[in-house]
Amino acid sequence: MDTQKPYDPEHIQTIISECKVEKWALIPLLQKIQEAIGYIPSEAIKPIARHLKLYPSEVQGVIEFYAGFSMKPKGKHVFKVCRGTACHVKGSRSILSGIEKKLGIKDGETSADYACSLETVACLGACFLAPTMMAGKEYYGKLSLGKIPSIVDHVTGEREDKDT
Ligand code: FES
Repeated sequence: MDTQKPYDPEHIQTIISECKVEKWALIPLLQKIQEAIGYIPSEAIKPIARHLKLYPSEVQGVIEFYAGFSMKPKGKHVFKVCRGTACHVKGSRSILSGIEKKLGIKDGETSADYACSLETVACLGACFLAPTMMAGKEYYGKLSLGKIPSIVDHVTGEREDKDT
């Protein structure tokens, strides 16, 4: 997904109606919606439940259970800073402070222009590179506070390059 798209009920309904009416189809359907617009709008829960013959609370429960699903719109660039043990030992707290300062947002927040979101995660599975973070699908390892500004500029600068 390149940009955060506004909630469009017809688009969501099209995605839902293309989905098989099977209970196992819930997670793939949620993944499709999130891939299409970047999050699962709360307005989509009832139509999803109706289509799959589930209770809305079941759909909501699955969204809340899996950390990969979000009901809030996120920024175009999502930065994930690891706060796992290996990264903590190697100074992830100062990495988080540095990126918060650079982006002007705190952990769990999205910038007002929806350009960037910042999250912390338990482990990115690349402990040998600690301290680590991700921006989009890219890993950045062996981080130091001094590397943060150029990484953020590189990531957000890529967006401008693609748009021009
Ligand atoms: S603890 Fe940070 S990548 Fe595993």
